[in-house]
Amino acid sequence: MEHSCPVEMSESVTRFVEMSPLLGNQEYNLTLSWQNVAVKVKRTNVVHDSTRTWLRKFVSWKKAEEVTILDNVSGKVQSGSLVAVMGSSGCGKTSLLAAVSGRIKGTVTGEVLLCGHPVDGALLTRISGFVPQKGIIFETLTAKEHLQFMSWMRLDRGLRSDIRSKWIQDLLLDLNLSGCEDTPISALSGGERKRLSLAVELLIDPPLLFCDEPTTGLDSYNASTVVEKLNHLASRGKAVLCSIHQPTSDILSCFHKMILLSAGRVAFQGTLEHAYTFFSNQGFVCPPSYNPAEFFIQKLSVIPGEEEDSSQRMNQICEAFSTLEQDRSLQLSVPHIQVARNCITGLSRDFQKYVTIRKPYWHTQVYWLTWRSVVDSSHNKCSHIVQIAVFLVTSLMLSLCFMNTEAGTQSWIQDIRGLLYLITSEVFFTSAYSVFNTFPQEIPIFLRESELYSASAYYFSKMITLIPRAVIEPILYLVIIFGVVDFSRGDLNMFFLMAVPVVIVSNSATAYGCMLSAVFESPAMASVAAVPIDLISFIMAGIFYNVRALPASITWMKYLSQFYYSNEALAVVHWQEVDYIMCRNNTNLPCLENGQQVLDEYGFNTENLFRDLVVLAVFYIVLHFIGFLGVWRRSKRKAAY
Ligand SMILES: Nc1ncnc2c1ncn2[C@@H]1O[C@H](COP(=O)(O)OP(=O)(O)OP(=O)(O)O)[C@@H](O)[C@H]1O
Ligand SMILES: [Mg+2]
Repeated sequence: MEHSCPVEMSESVTRFVEMSPLLGNQEYNLTLSWQNVAVKVKRTNVVHDSTRTWLRKFVSWKKAEEVTILDNVSGKVQSGSLVAVMGSSGCGKTSLLAAVSGRIKGTVTGEVLLCGHPVDGALLTRISGFVPQKGIIFETLTAKEHLQFMSWMRLDRGLRSDIRSKWIQDLLLDLNLSGCEDTPISALSGGERKRLSLAVELLIDPPLLFCDEPTTGLDSYNASTVVEKLNHLASRGKAVLCSIHQPTSDILSCFHKMILLSAGRVAFQGTLEHAYTFFSNQGFVCPPSYNPAEFFIQKLSVIPGEEEDSSQRMNQICEAFSTLEQDRSLQLSVPHIQVARNCITGLSRDFQKYVTIRKPYWHTQVYWLTWRSVVDSSHNKCSHIVQIAVFLVTSLMLSLCFMNTEAGTQSWIQDIRGLLYLITSEVFFTSAYSVFNTFPQEIPIFLRESELYSASAYYFSKMITLIPRAVIEPILYLVIIFGVVDFSRGDLNMFFLMAVPVVIVSNSATAYGCMLSAVFESPAMASVAAVPIDLISFIMAGIFYNVRALPASITWMKYLSQFYYSNEALAVVHWQEVDYIMCRNNTNLPCLENGQQVLDEYGFNTENLFRDLVVLAVFYIVLHFIGFLGVWRRSKRKAAY
């Protein structure tokens, strides 16, 4: 294909090469080739079987069948070239990019070769960048903050921070993002977002770049600026493989070669001129006024209503190309995949600069992940303020109900019992349910970035980020209640004594919420699972009856209830300080004369206070550990692109 990209080359190309902190001026002359690559996945389909019973229908009997999404695909891309992967939606473009870049998680057969040598996914992911089709990132961060975070995750941990900052500024300048570096990502235009994704991949200045539909959803101007950048990168010596959806003729001319896919098979590979000739030979002549990309893709797509004809046509084209390729390799009597003549060998040695990039230390990962969450929260102040305000209004309404409680009387016992229980349950449920969305929201981002940091660093940073809220909210809550309700010994000492169990409950409830959020795929499923757990915990709290009187067969259940420990701890803290409670004049009514008697009535024991607090702390650790296992398990299963 004669290269007639309409976009002017900029001076930044040469400057860019000089400024990279990683590679200096080293240039690679690579050929990445792939031979007979096949990808198979297990797809679960609901079986449509009229003989199924209503029970089977109800539980949606599902059957896993193996489907081939890439069928013996071969091809190559070389340094200095920009290659387009095209085809109709679902033909396997993303799968091809993921398979040949070593990023697919699943069964891949066939060979991927770098300079003619087999290369594994681990090395490929280190020396290549992958700009995904869907940008899944923290939308509230600014472009610069996002790059800053990524620079700490992707560049060598020994790199000085002033060099990082300079490199980020240079990248922003080079990708025309300087004007919007402080704009939140959510407010960036489609083109700017794509260029930002590109900037993230260029942080390590990789010699291989994979871009999955970087122009989809963009207007023709933005699409051409993105392709212009890719063309520049290729002209700098990078090998760029890029899937693209219906490019205009101008954009198509920026690509040096194209690979056409049809239902997971290669339908054509070569230059635009060759494509014209090949399709003409098959009887499909592209009219002069037609966009060639659109024409070829149309011939390789299933037309509704003409399924059989379409499938026959697609098959014919794929078979013809396969025969042509076989003839060509026989004529040349060289291996099907050519290797660049001056291509380097000794892969790991030649890519030392990439192989030796040291990941950030675990504590650095935790620091930057926490930093990102804090920055994200700081851009979300409004929603936090509203949440806290709602919580505090609830606490005010609750306190007002107990405003006229008279300390030291018999009715006061019932009021304080109810109030303490309401404090526990309000703090518990608010803390647990406020984090229900945490992982469903963030898991896609975590999966996308799972190569950059460990699951444990991610989870630990989440734990840290959740602590301030789990401490501040219950304390504010208590401040309001102490301001309104007569706790008898409502002094500062009592306030702090009560704050300790309340803060611990709040944190262990957060751990419970995180565990459910991490283990279950969706908040809806987590909520369903939470109902019986909450109910049993609730019943075991000791508010409805004396916990010592529980039947022996279920008495063990109280030890699994966070409510039981928290309720006992709060009750002990409060009632052990109460020496005298007035009895009513009518002596026939039962009378509890002091706090100890109230505790006995509950079935609570003052000596259990320390145990209760320790067990709640153990709940915190164990539930978070289960939550971490949930996140870790999910990171192993799902594809990251
Ligand atoms: N993990 C998977 N499980 C089941 N099917 C899958 C999986 N991954 C991909 N597929 C299927 O494989 C086919 C190719 O998917 P792929 O994402 O590569 O298509 P594509 O050409 O990139 O499509 P688009 O242009 O819409 O992005 C699709 O039919 C898709 O549904
Ligand atoms: Mg795709």
